[in-house]
Amino acid sequence: MRQSNTWEIVDQYITECLIPYDSVLEEVLLANKQAGLPPIDVAPNQGKLLNIWVQMKQAKRVLEIGTLGGYSTIWMARALPADGHLVTLELEPRHAEVAQANFVHAGVDHRIELRVGNALDQLAKLEQENTEPFDLIFIDADKPNNPHYLKWALQFSRPGTVIIGDNVVRAGEVVDVHSTDPRIHGVRAFYDMLAAEPSIDATAIQTVGSKGYDGFAIGIVRG
Ligand SMILES: C[S@@+](CC[C@H](N)C(=O)[O-])C[C@H]1O[C@@H](n2cnc3c(N)ncnc32)[C@H](O)[C@@H]1O
Repeated sequence: MRQSNTWEIVDQYITECLIPYDSVLEEVLLANKQAGLPPIDVAPNQGKLLNIWVQMKQAKRVLEIGTLGGYSTIWMARALPADGHLVTLELEPRHAEVAQANFVHAGVDHRIELRVGNALDQLAKLEQENTEPFDLIFIDADKPNNPHYLKWALQFSRPGTVIIGDNVVRAGEVVDVHSTDPRIHGVRAFYDMLAAEPSIDATAIQTVGSKGYDGFAIGIVRG
């Protein structure tokens, strides 16, 4: 069996065992596909991992950078308490339109504030609005901007805030010091910042599965 084939089959097994069939989430993925969105949302078992992290943190305020069709957003929003709030940032109006319809379909739209535009502009606006700190921040947008997103994430944090970054391995390309890919540069600069920043304690893990070979970074802001 090809290795990546094994990863997919095991992902399917994990999903069948631990993630009960959910018609709403299936319909969300279908809506994304029918709208022509790229299939770069997190996998179901990764969505559930995000959901569990939100529960473990008992987060009330979540920030997501990179919405796409809102698949990961819905997983996280479902873990929020009744008075929870999730802000998600998306550049592409078409992605945002599909995501908003998905939020309504999933019955979580009242907890979600979807802001459309360049995330860096939206983050600056949030600062002007004196937004309250977030409990958990998920960075999953354009990788070249990862260092900027981490800077903002730290700014919108308090002690104990959890900061997560997706796609931090990129099929192993992250170790290629000669890479000319700006996404690799962004991810490597993200690691450098995590390593140098005294206010955060972080690690990263490699992941394999239906979405290929990649990884998550996770850090907690120190007290
Ligand atoms: C990997 S997808 C997000 C997947 C989503 N988190 C999920 O798992 O369902 C990245 C998204 O970030 C958006 N994006 C890219 N550059 C951006 C920017 N500068 N500001 C805001 N969003 C951006 C893309 O349009 C895309 O929808």
